Amino acid sequence: MPDVSSIPENERVYGLKGVLEHSFERTRHDASGALADYIPELAKADPDRFGIAMASVSGEVVGVGDVDLPFTIQSISKALAYCLALEALGRDKVLAHVGVEPSGDAFNAIVFDALSNRPFNPMVNAGAITVSGLLSEAFGAEAFEVVLDRFSAAAGRRLVMDETVFRSEAQTGHRNRGIAHLLKCAGALGADVDDAVDLYFRQCSILVTATDLAVMGATLANIGENPLTGSAAFAVEAVRNTLSVMFTCGMYDFAGNWAFDVGVPAKSGVGGGILGVVNRQLGIGTYSPRLDAKGNSVRGISAFRDLAEEMGLHVF
Ligand code: DON
Repeated sequence: MPDVSSIPENERVYGLKGVLEHSFERTRHDASGALADYIPELAKADPDRFGIAMASVSGEVVGVGDVDLPFTIQSISKALAYCLALEALGRDKVLAHVGVEPSGDAFNAIVFDALSNRPFNPMVNAGAITVSGLLSEAFGAEAFEVVLDRFSAAAGRRLVMDETVFRSEAQTGHRNRGIAHLLKCAGALGADVDDAVDLYFRQCSILVTATDLAVMGATLANIGENPLTGSAAFAVEAVRNTLSVMFTCGMYDFAGNWAFDVGVPAKSGVGGGILGVVNRQLGIGTYSPRLDAKGNSVRGISAFRDLAEEMGLHVF
């Protein structure tokens, strides 16, 4: 039996779980950043929680730390709702309402593409509210159930919404209501303002774990089919289009840095989650609720940077 301690650290080969354990250890000490508090309920999270999970397209799932702790999906819902809209309404209809150009602006910026009067992309609030409007027009009163069904299919288990977070955001989300009214005025939003915003707040309040995010990521990596359940969650073309926009716009005004350092499509949420996709290989989910000034999870970014380096995940 070879003695492991005689093998130099940089020559040891670890399984996925071992790789995660090492990344977790290297990144868990950073206590910088702050909880989101503009939605009052989010400020109640335990700031120290941290989990990293990975799911492969062959169905292997591993995790370290708080990978089974539920938190609200928040903006990560934007990517999945966009995928659903592309599939349900077709690419041309969706593109007529929302662009695919990085804005370089904050997630809640009140700015549209001046030439087309459309939101720049579906990953910022203006674009996501427009997508929720399209879904609410297409599915009417069933819209949230349709969204929840698809998110659940991608996660491989029945998800639920956190009523308290939903109410907290519905009562305080004046900026998003303002954005929705401006979208209506610009002609980008066809749906009723209240319906669009209601669906947007609901989809943001769906509870997930880091493990769920990893499995959802693996479903996208597996071009729409959940590798654990074998069920089809999203159509192939919609997945390709969604991953493209996640790559260029998923991390808001940090998207350029992210593409440079990490190099995989990803989406973050102010609940503290990040979902990353290594095309045809892996989904990665992280949870740590302390955020940087741009609204991205501090330790989530560190963990992804570390894993990208360690595992050679960058697409280039
Ligand atoms: O629009 C909002 O304010 C939230 N419900 C979602 C924002 C979000 O997650 C931005 N992410 N970093």
